Amino acid sequence: MKIATTENRTGAVCADMFNSAVAASALSAAWQVGILDELAGGSQLDIAEFATAHDLHEPSLRAAMFALSGQHIVELDAGRNSVWAGSLFSDFYLAKGFFSWLTHGCGDLMSRLPMAMRNGPHREAQLARDGRAISVACRDIARTFFDPPYLDLIDGLDISTVADLGCGGGDRIVTIAQRNPHIVAIGIDLSTEALEVAREAARTAHITDRVSLVHADALSLAPRPDYADVDLITCFMMGHDFWPLAHCVRTLQRLRESFPNVQNMVLGDTCRSTGLAADELDVFSLGFEIVHATMDQYLPTIQEWDLVFEQSGWKVADRRMISLPAFSFVYLLQPDD
Ligand SMILES: C[S@@+](CC[C@H](N)C(=O)[O-])C[C@H]1O[C@@H](n2cnc3c(N)ncnc32)[C@H](O)[C@@H]1O
Repeated sequence: MKIATTENRTGAVCADMFNSAVAASALSAAWQVGILDELAGGSQLDIAEFATAHDLHEPSLRAAMFALSGQHIVELDAGRNSVWAGSLFSDFYLAKGFFSWLTHGCGDLMSRLPMAMRNGPHREAQLARDGRAISVACRDIARTFFDPPYLDLIDGLDISTVADLGCGGGDRIVTIAQRNPHIVAIGIDLSTEALEVAREAARTAHITDRVSLVHADALSLAPRPDYADVDLITCFMMGHDFWPLAHCVRTLQRLRESFPNVQNMVLGDTCRSTGLAADELDVFSLGFEIVHATMDQYLPTIQEWDLVFEQSGWKVADRRMISLPAFSFVYLLQPDD
């Protein structure tokens, strides 16, 4: 049997896929240990010095930098001692949250894919994800891709109290509370790990007096007196958890009951891809779809979202489509009375 080598096309494609998978983990690790942020500042770094200064294992840091150089994310000198940003650094720096979401946040689930694929009572135990890593990765994705259209949509709204459903690392509530010293914010999340990240963010921003963090299922909220003050609901990258259809209609209706004085809701999320082959998809879609399929979480299409609001007591006041992550939107919704 002839083994494919990089001299023929099959071998080159295999090598490219393998090396990209290694680089994806290396990129996520490089961000988490801080070297990516240093390189983004334009520095040329001595790898040994950086490792010593940050108490890092030098051989793994050097090997990770070498893997990234293969994707032109960084460049190394011939001795692999110094590293600096490569020609594709800025693209990958913008996209780092996607890689971290996949390799760190969903890394355990992806490595257990064969067990999760087998039906049986053990399946559920294979689906755990790292809530802290996901909240940090999503915070980065949201800042880069969802916040500009979100801030545009809320510009000019009169807001006193905001509730952020699935608040994750708390970036949205911290940002809005920092922008306006009169705004009170409530972050609601099911993950205690994510709430801990949000708590740290509120502490760092010195706004714990105006931020409440609630450990609750946003799909079935128990009443709280402060929910009556909420005039803006925000919900980013968890709207797909409302689905399937009947469940989504009921959840959206229930939000109006839980927050009886809400004036606006901003909903941003990514949808299931349609109309493209797998090899035509941009970063994120394939990972988003395989992870949610494995978790048995239905992902609606944009067409399905468009049809749901009218049935749920909300009307679309405005909408922005986002090109990355592909098939993503931010809706401004208002109660339809
Ligand atoms: C993909 S992250 C997005 C985090 C954040 N919204 C952001 O924009 O960065 C989804 C978050 O929703 C939370 N979540 C998922 N289902 C939830 C539910 N039913 N109730 C409350 N939070 C939920 C998860 O724990 C996670 O923190």
